[in-house]
Amino acid sequence: MCGIIGYVGGRPCRELILTGLERLEYRGYDSAGFALIDEGHGVVESVRAVGNLAELRAAAGEGNGNGATAGVGHTRWATHGRVTTANAHPHASADGSVLIVMNGIIENYLELRSELQNAGVVFASDTDTEVVPQLIARAYDGDLAAAVRAVLPRLGGHFAFVAAHVSEPGRLVAARRECPLVIGVGEGERFVASAIPAFLSETRDVVLIEDDEVVALDADGHAIWQGEERQPARPPSRVDWDEDAAEKGGYESFMLKEIHEQPAALWDTIGDRLRGDGSVELDGLGLDDAALARVERIHVVACGTSYHAGLVGRYLIEDWARVPVHVEVASEYRYRTCLAGPGDLVLGITQSGETADTLAAMRVARERGAHVVAVTNIMGSQATRDADGVLYTRAGLEIGVAATKTHTAQVMALSLLALKLGRLKWALTAAGALDLADELRRIPDAVEAYLRSPAPERVMQAAAAYAERPFFLYLGRHVGVPVCFEGALKLKEISYIPTEAYPAGEMKHGPIALLEEGSPVVVVATDGHVFDKVVSNIQEVRARGARVIAVATEGNEEIERHADDVLWAPRTPALLSPIAAVVPLQLFAYGIAQSRGLNVDQPRNLAKTVTVE
Ligand code: AGP
Repeated sequence: MCGIIGYVGGRPCRELILTGLERLEYRGYDSAGFALIDEGHGVVESVRAVGNLAELRAAAGEGNGNGATAGVGHTRWATHGRVTTANAHPHASADGSVLIVMNGIIENYLELRSELQNAGVVFASDTDTEVVPQLIARAYDGDLAAAVRAVLPRLGGHFAFVAAHVSEPGRLVAARRECPLVIGVGEGERFVASAIPAFLSETRDVVLIEDDEVVALDADGHAIWQGEERQPARPPSRVDWDEDAAEKGGYESFMLKEIHEQPAALWDTIGDRLRGDGSVELDGLGLDDAALARVERIHVVACGTSYHAGLVGRYLIEDWARVPVHVEVASEYRYRTCLAGPGDLVLGITQSGETADTLAAMRVARERGAHVVAVTNIMGSQATRDADGVLYTRAGLEIGVAATKTHTAQVMALSLLALKLGRLKWALTAAGALDLADELRRIPDAVEAYLRSPAPERVMQAAAAYAERPFFLYLGRHVGVPVCFEGALKLKEISYIPTEAYPAGEMKHGPIALLEEGSPVVVVATDGHVFDKVVSNIQEVRARGARVIAVATEGNEEIERHADDVLWAPRTPALLSPIAAVVPLQLFAYGIAQSRGLNVDQPRNLAKTVTVE
C-alpha cells in the first residue's frame, strides 16, 4: 500500500529519493517523508509532511541534503494511525540511531509494543511500523544486517522495509515478507524500492528479493541472506519497460493517458498469441494442452475492477468452451469452504499481482490441489511467484489509481483463454474459432478509431451536464452487467458520487424505488440478444421520470428514440462488447470528475495496490 525507496552510492541522493517517491506516489499519498544520512554527520535532513509529494517538497524546501549519498523515502497509505506528520515515515528508534521506511503491516505490533514499553521504550507514533526500528536498535551490536536478521523472525504479518543506522551511513538493510521489494543495480550505487519505476530512470538492472530474505546494500554491492544463510550471488535481470510510462506524455492526467493507451494494451496482449488459423498459444500457464482440455471447472478470484473482468470472462468461457465458471471476490472466497481441488483451474486476476486478498484466495485454492494461474500485468509480482502458471496482460505500467487499460487487457487475455479452451474442448469449430480470432483482432483498431473520433468529446460534454447529480443508477443485462459494475465503480472512485449497479432484471426488485424525477440512469444497451429486454427496462425507468444515458452500439438508430443521451460504443460481436462499452463509461466517469475539479489520479482514501486485507 505504501511506497518505499532507498539509495546508497556515490551521488547526492536527495533528488533521486524525491523523484523516486513521485514515481511511487500511486501506491499511497496520505503523507510522505524522507531522511538523508551522511558519513560523519548522521541524519542531515529528515522531513515528513501530510499530503502528497508536492506537500513534502514544499515542506522540504530547496535544501541539498548536505550532499548526502544515502537515504530512504516513503509515501504512505495509512493503515495503523491517523494521517498525521507524527505517523508519517521514516520512523526512528527512540535513541534516533535506526530509521525505517515500511510498506505492509506488523500484525503482532501491539504485543511487541507493550513488551518494548514495559522495557521503558517511549513511542513517538501510533503506527505498527515503529516497533521495527525500536527492536532493531535494541538488537544492534555494530552490524545492522545482523540486527535485522535477528528481529525478522519476531515480526508477524506482511511487510517490506528498509533500515538505516547512523553508525553505518554507507549501508542500507532491507527485508520483505509477501510485500514487494526490488533492488536496482547501478554503477557504484544501489537502489531498493517497492517497485521498479522508482528507479527506472537510473538503472534497468534489477534483482528481486524473495520472502523472508534480508539484503544489505552498499555502493559497491549487495549481500542477501535467508535466515542466517548467505545466498549465492543473484545476477540482475534487465527490464525493458518504457520509461515514458511513468510520465503523462502530454495528457492532463495518467488516467486519461491510460484510457488512450487501451488500443496498444489490447494489441500487445494479443501479441503473437493469436495465430492465423485461429489457434491460441499461451505460454506459461503451467498446463499443456492435454491438461487444459481436461479442466472441468474454473474458479476466478479477484477484487474490484479485476473481479469485473472475471465476470466478463465467465460469459466468454462458458459460451465458447462450455466450462462452468465460478467468479467470486477474493476477500470472500478466501474465508469460505474452498471446494476447488485437483483438476480445477483457478484464475487469480490481479493487475498489480500484489492484492492481499487475491493472493490469499489463490493460496487457499493451491493448497487444495487446484492449478492456479495468475492473470497479472506485473512481471515478477507476488502473484507470479505464488501461482503454478501466469497469463500476462501486456498493458504496460498503469499509474492512475482507477484501473482502465489493465481492465480491458484482462478481458482480452481472458478472451484468448476462452478461445483456446473452446477449441481444446471441441466446443468451437475451427471455422467458428477463426471468426472469433478475427473479431478479437479487430477490437484494438475499433477502440483506437473510437478514441480518435469526436465521440469521446461528446461523452465529456454529456458528463459535464450530469456532473452535479447526487446519485446514478447503472443497469444492464448479460455481458452488460459487469460493464455496469465497472462503469459505476469508476464513477464512485474518482467522482465520489454514490452509484448502484444492478442487472436490469433485478431493478423491479428494489432499486427502482430510488428513482425520482430526473434521476440519471446509465443503461448498457449494446446490440445483442437482450437488447429488446433492456429497452423495456429503459421504458420502465423513464415512466418514473428518470433520465436515461444509454451506452449503445454505433449505428443503432433505435436507441435514440428511447434514451435522453447516447454514449456510442464501437461495434463488436455482442459477447465482446464489454471491452468496447466500458471505454465510454471510463470517459463518462472521467468527465464528471473533471467537471467537479477532482484529482482523478489520486482519489481520496484509495491506493493503487491493496496489500492489506
Ligand atoms: C480499480 O479502479 C480499483 N482501483 C480497484 O478496484 C482494483 O481493481 C483492485 O484493488 C484490484 O487490484 P489488482 O487488480 O491490482 O488486484
